[in-house]
This record gives sequence, C-alpha cells and structure tokens, in this order.
Amino acid sequence: MNKYLLFTPGPVNVAENVRRAICKDDICHRESDFDDLLQRVETKLLKLFEIKNSVDYRAVVITGSGTAANESMLSSVVGHKRILILSNGEFGDRLYNISKVHNKNTTVLQYSWGERFDLETIKAYLTTHEIDIVAMVHHETSSGMLNPLEKIGTLCKEHKAMFIVDCVSSAGAEVIDMEKCHIAFCSSSSSKAICSYPGLSFVVGKTNEFERLRDLPVKTAYLNLYAFYEFIKNFSQTPNTPAVHLFYALEQALDNILNKGIAHHYSVLQDKAKILRDGMSNLGLTFLMEEKDMCSVLTTVYLPTHIDTTLFRQKLREKSIIIYEGKGRFKNKVFQVGNIGELSFADIQFFLDSLENVLQSFGNGKVKIIPFTLGGGRKSMIVYVDGDTKSRELATAS
Ligand SMILES: Cc1ncc(COP(=O)(O)O)c(C=O)c1O
Repeated sequence: MNKYLLFTPGPVNVAENVRRAICKDDICHRESDFDDLLQRVETKLLKLFEIKNSVDYRAVVITGSGTAANESMLSSVVGHKRILILSNGEFGDRLYNISKVHNKNTTVLQYSWGERFDLETIKAYLTTHEIDIVAMVHHETSSGMLNPLEKIGTLCKEHKAMFIVDCVSSAGAEVIDMEKCHIAFCSSSSSKAICSYPGLSFVVGKTNEFERLRDLPVKTAYLNLYAFYEFIKNFSQTPNTPAVHLFYALEQALDNILNKGIAHHYSVLQDKAKILRDGMSNLGLTFLMEEKDMCSVLTTVYLPTHIDTTLFRQKLREKSIIIYEGKGRFKNKVFQVGNIGELSFADIQFFLDSLENVLQSFGNGKVKIIPFTLGGGRKSMIVYVDGDTKSRELATAS
C-alpha cells in the first residue's frame, strides 16, 4: 500500500511489477546482459512511438531526468546555426534558458503562459528571419496546454527548419507521429506517462540526423548526443555508467503499455481525465483552459480565491493525496491534478470525494455579515455560506 496517491504530472505511483523489476539480478553494464537490455528498451521505445520503419529512427537512453535529454538535444544539434524557441510556459522558458547556455544564436517567440501559439506570427517570423531549427514543448506542463505538433511541424518543413520537441510529459499519453509532424528529435522521460521511476530520459531521432551530429562542435562532454548514438549503434551501450536497474523498470513499464495496447493505454488516460474533469466541474471548479486544449494527463484548475494553497495541499495530503500547485506566474492561482501512473478509477473517486470534503472545509467563499445584539452592545457575525442552506460560524467581530 502506497503512502500517497500521486495525482501529479509525475513522478507517478508505479505498478507492482515495475517496483519489483528494479530488484532483478546485478549485471555489468559492459557485458552482453546490459547490451541486450538496452537493445530491448530501444526497440520498445520505438514501438511506443509507433515508428513504422525502425531503421530510420533510433532512441538513445540517458541516465538523468527529462532535462538531461533536453539539454543533450539543445547542446548537440544546433552547432553554429540559429534556433528559435516557441514558449508559452515554464518549460518553454526552460528550453530557451538551456539553449542560451549553449547556442549564441537563440531567439524566442514568447507567448503568455497558457496562451495558444499564434500560427500566423510564427509563420511570419519564419518568413522574415533565417531560422535553422525550431524547438518547443509538446505538452506545456505548467499550464496543461497541448501545443499543436503537426501544425508547427508543417511550418518547419515549409521553411526548411529542423523541428525538435520536448515530449517529456506527453510521450506515453498522446500520439506523437514523428514522421507526419516532421520531428527530427524529441525527448522524454521515464517517470511521467510511461509510468516508470524517475532517473532515465531518452531522445528519439531520425537516424540520418543522428549521423549528421558527428560534424557539429561538441558543447558538452557528458550529454553529447552523438556519443550516446555512437555507443548504442556500435556497442549497444551507453558512454558512461548507466543506472542499470532503472532500465529494467523502464522495460517493464513499456511492456505494461505495449502488452495492453498503446491505443488502450491512451483511451484509459482519456477516460480518467474525463471523470476527473467532470467531477471537478460538478464541484463548481473551473479550468485554466478549454478541454480541447488540454493533454490527457493533467488538469489545471483555478484555485478558489478564498483558499490558501498551502493549507489546501496540506488538507489533501492528510488524506494521502498529493497534487501540484501552480508554478511561476500561476503560483497561488491554480492547482494541478494529474491522472497518470497506478491510479485506479476507485482512487479517482476517492480523490473527488476528498476534494469535495476539503473544499467544504473552506466554505464557498461567499461572505454574509449578519448583525445581532448580544447583551448591551451591537455586534455582527461573519458567516461563510456553504451552499444555499448550511451556514457555519467562523468568526465573530464587534
Ligand atoms: C514538459 C517538461 N519538460 C521538461 C521537464 C523537466 O523534466 P525533469 O524535471 O525530469 O528534468 C518537465 C518536468 O516536469 C516537463 O514537464
């Protein structure tokens, strides 16, 4: 029994067989046991991405969180070229900041957090500027917005720009058609919709684009994407010591998705998101964006203004429920509820019941001042009104 139900965008509650997988035999990462394991993990990652011709694409696995895969891409594929970052949230901003560290020709088209990308301004920018590479986040986790992969990919193709994408919180939950969306490289991590432990990330890319990295300047030694490619291609290994047992866990998590079917996995996530969203709407909560803009893993909800974030999260934590609070510009304005990992439909109902309970404990925020007389003086009582009929005294004032 887990201590907490992680209603977060990851790391997640893992399946029992994933938990057991990290206890497998100790193996040496320079022996054929690991070579085979890495080969199987790569094959399964390419299956998850529904790559039809697996010779045209490769997946390299990096020991490190999602940021390691992002930094590996951004430091290794740009060279001296010009890169444009599209950002509408915290994680788009992070791509920009990482790129600036490695690439002096970095620019950003900055949209408000939670705002849709405006395709016309992007098109105009690509028409009037020499841009070689465009990078963006697929699912902008800070707001929950799913950015339009195919539309931006098509613009990139029209303007002969390479397209690279952070799919850290969308891979394993949303269809990512690398070919149709003209994606050269995309990154993701083990601990979100793929439902394994944190600690591994990966980059899926076109084989010919991986080959081209050989001629580019090396900007980081440890996260050199070409080195990862060279090692997997030549030895089925990683350049440095990998977190061996996390590979077992990742393989098991991938098996869990592939055995049940990718489409089935996606549709269960959609069902869970729908039940959560309907349930929260019924409690009178409203969302940061329309449902059609959301990813199937996460819902970003306005925090009622009379509720204190810290206390709200604490009350849920006391019921073993962990949610996310808003980051950066969304701090104290929203909370986020994820529906990935081992969360059953019963857990979701438990969450909704607990949420109702916690919201009720704060009242509904409508305040009524009722004057009354006590002894000799005139006093008034502040009453927070719960629904239409129930009233609860919270304080008195003279
Ligand atoms: C879209 C996106 N990109 C990048 C990251 C960073 O990943 P990590 O914290 O695993 O390094 C996250 C983390 O939540 C994310 O959601």
